Amino acid sequence: MMLGAVQLGVLAACIVLFVPMGMAGWHLSRNKMLFFSGALFISLAVGVHLSPYFPSISDFMSSPASSTSSSSSSSAAVDSGNNRDSCLSLLHEIVFDVDPVSSVNGSVYYLKSWGWPQTGPVSECEFQKLGRPDTSDLLNGSWVVVAGDSQARLVALALLSLVLDSERMDSVRGDLFKRHSNYQIVVSDIGMKLDFVWAPFASNLTDLMVELKQNSSYPDVLVMGSGLWHMLHVHNASDYGVSLELLKGSVTSLLPLSPELGDDGPVTGSVSFRPPPFFWLGMPMLINSMLNTKEKRERMDDAAFNAYEIELHQSKILRQFGGPLLLLDIHSLTRNCGKRCTEDGMHYDAAVYNAAIHIMLNALLIESHQKL
Ligand SMILES: *[C@@H]1O[C@H](CO)[C@@H](O)[C@H](O)[C@H]1NC(C)=O
Ligand SMILES: *[C@@H]1O[C@H](CO)[C@@H](O)[C@H](O)[C@H]1NC(C)=O
Ligand SMILES: *[C@@H]1O[C@H](CO)[C@@H](O)[C@H](O)[C@H]1NC(C)=O
Ligand SMILES: *[C@@H]1O[C@H](CO)[C@@H](O)[C@H](O)[C@H]1NC(C)=O
Ligand SMILES: *[C@@H]1O[C@H](CO)[C@@H](O)[C@H](O)[C@H]1NC(C)=O
Repeated sequence: MMLGAVQLGVLAACIVLFVPMGMAGWHLSRNKMLFFSGALFISLAVGVHLSPYFPSISDFMSSPASSTSSSSSSSAAVDSGNNRDSCLSLLHEIVFDVDPVSSVNGSVYYLKSWGWPQTGPVSECEFQKLGRPDTSDLLNGSWVVVAGDSQARLVALALLSLVLDSERMDSVRGDLFKRHSNYQIVVSDIGMKLDFVWAPFASNLTDLMVELKQNSSYPDVLVMGSGLWHMLHVHNASDYGVSLELLKGSVTSLLPLSPELGDDGPVTGSVSFRPPPFFWLGMPMLINSMLNTKEKRERMDDAAFNAYEIELHQSKILRQFGGPLLLLDIHSLTRNCGKRCTEDGMHYDAAVYNAAIHIMLNALLIESHQKL
């Protein structure tokens, strides 16, 4: 057990130290050199981070002594954790471009695109939009679980569209949109398995956590979220809060590291343990006048939305409040994209979910680097 964690640290240090030296001796094309920092990130993520994540976590847990040595040796090898923390917090600084285009028949539609600003502190973080090869590298051999309601479904779709060609996507889209059911796909050329779990309520997510724990099977990447269904069908914020508390308990018992984090958030510094990057999918901006049923317009108003957001914060399930899950802030993304990015005031253009997936992938890269 102890050896495992130490070896991991040594391996990490070796990669960080020797990969650049090795590459310097090769005749790399200019493009390859430019891509170099990203490639290093990716090789770390693939080789060290994603596949053996859980074994390494349990090593850290069961032998505090070894974890100290491995994390301090590696913190010398990677640059400062604070830097990465601030980059993590800048990930959502995304700009959307929504351009009106007139078609021949006179109707206007909007082309949406997004990106990180090329100037200022965000540009220093060198966030990357990953193409198919890089995403495939990063997710090679991993098990991805996306659980929740229709927002989660759109996120699953956005992730798959990064690894599948358009022909295959068409058939996936059909299957994934069979209402209210689970969906599984194995992308055999990269050995990636993705499970979409239909889990509209937090209690369904709790059940999923319990099942994962019983099975002792842990996804490499987990994205989950809930709230809209509860707001519409139960419409009781404090009840939502109670269900989030239960969910937090089940996530915490799945990820044994998180309870010690306390109110001030995770400890940064040489002995920094990070829970594996599991993500919480926030709720989108709801545009009341555009919601497509009377019931939705009545129950999903600003007051309800705010009450639900407060419960989410108070549950402390999010990393920024000391909890285990990293927020994918769909609310801020949808607000930035604006009402032209939605037709029903609730589900947004693919650009939004594509941006969310890139935030997640870049967070994985940052975390994998920092974790070492
Ligand atoms: C106009 O053309 C766009 C595509 O260019 C199409 O999506 C839309 O349905 C058309 N509108 C009408 C009224 O025909
Ligand atoms: C995935 O990883 C396996 C072994 O680790 C490798 O043989 C394969 O080429 C990789 N595939 C892609 C698409 O990166
Ligand atoms: C989700 O939870 C609700 C309420 O606890 C339950 O009625 C429903 O059957 C669950 N759905 C799934 C898909 O497990
Ligand atoms: C747990 O294991 C059972 C039996 O192998 C399987 O059917 C089920 O899908 C697993 N659950 C999860 C969440 O992986
Ligand atoms: C809302 O939920 C709380 C906690 O579950 C419960 O105590 C309360 O009675 C509920 N309120 C209503 C109006 O149903």
